[in-house]
Amino acid sequence: MQDNRILEVIFHTLDSLVSGGDREHRKNVFKSITNVCAHHLEGLLLSAKTCRRCPLASALARGLVTAPQGQQETSRVSRRSKLYEGKAKILYEGPEPGTLIQYFKDDATAFNNQKKATLSGKGVLNNHISEHIFKGLTTVGVTNHFIRRLSMREQLIKSVEIIPLEVIVRNVAAGTLSKRLGLEEGTDLPRPLVEYCYKSDELGDPLIAEDHILTFGWANEYELDDILSTALRVNDFLSGLFCGIGIRLVDFKLEFGRLYEGDEYMTILADEISPDSCRLWDMETGEKLDKDRFRRDLGGEMEAYSEVARRLGILPSADVQELSEHRKKR
Ligand SMILES: Nc1ncnc2c1ncn2[C@@H]1O[C@H](COP(=O)(O)OP(=O)(O)O)[C@@H](O)[C@H]1O
Ligand SMILES: [Mg+2]
Repeated sequence: MQDNRILEVIFHTLDSLVSGGDREHRKNVFKSITNVCAHHLEGLLLSAKTCRRCPLASALARGLVTAPQGQQETSRVSRRSKLYEGKAKILYEGPEPGTLIQYFKDDATAFNNQKKATLSGKGVLNNHISEHIFKGLTTVGVTNHFIRRLSMREQLIKSVEIIPLEVIVRNVAAGTLSKRLGLEEGTDLPRPLVEYCYKSDELGDPLIAEDHILTFGWANEYELDDILSTALRVNDFLSGLFCGIGIRLVDFKLEFGRLYEGDEYMTILADEISPDSCRLWDMETGEKLDKDRFRRDLGGEMEAYSEVARRLGILPSADVQELSEHRKKR
């Protein structure tokens, strides 16, 4: 069975755990997800109610949980009007004015679209990881576009006018910063460094200075002040969040947008925060748990993304293919 189907079943089960039924129901669902394995899930989806060994199958048979309906989800999506298809996500018209649906694809791209692949299950993981982080940011007062998750791959968001900047916050030298300034990857920076790139696929997102932003009117002084202070707050929050689960937050990218209310507007955080947009290194081993696995042909992308989800408490440990398993295979 494809990884993304396995993940969808797991997440669907988690959904029922959180949202449905009485205590007994939750106990059963919990029992089922902690024991379930890919093999059982495969059998379960094919001949759902007959696999006697699988607790999830028996939970299914007794109607305690339901298998996700992949087909239904796709047809529901296709009836909506598509507004934009990007490299990793699709934006659909939302159910109410001022809302959009952000759909997370399995497509991975790097080096401005020159390298492409499909990473089965990535969309499901990024949707959940980004949900978790945006909800956390809301609790610490960082206003953002997230409203609620709708399904495995979709979330409802507030529609904003995207400011054409990629705001990059760095704690440790890596990637293009290391190349540009000849800094060894892994060097701690004396303080967080905020960089701006102009968001343009045609130009390859060039690095720009604050003065470019003001000169060309991509954002005004007040917005830039807001963006900078929010980016640093997000960095504080995320550094703590990841530190608590043994992950070093090396750097990450943010996008902001203008949320209009009548004639007024405020600048809020938008897009996604996931292993696609962050550099995350295991604190003990230094292992990369982010998109660099794809950029640098390291393999094991989904094992790494699942590991991040598992440590964040989004994915139960029993079902995560260990990164060490991937290493053994290589
Ligand atoms: N709340 C929002 N309102 C409008 N557009 C958004 C919002 N959040 C993110 N976006 C935009 O949606 C697109 C998401 O799709 P993605 O695949 O990341 O596109 P891209 O290839 O342009 O990076 C991005 O262009 C991003 O700027
Ligand atoms: Mg993007």
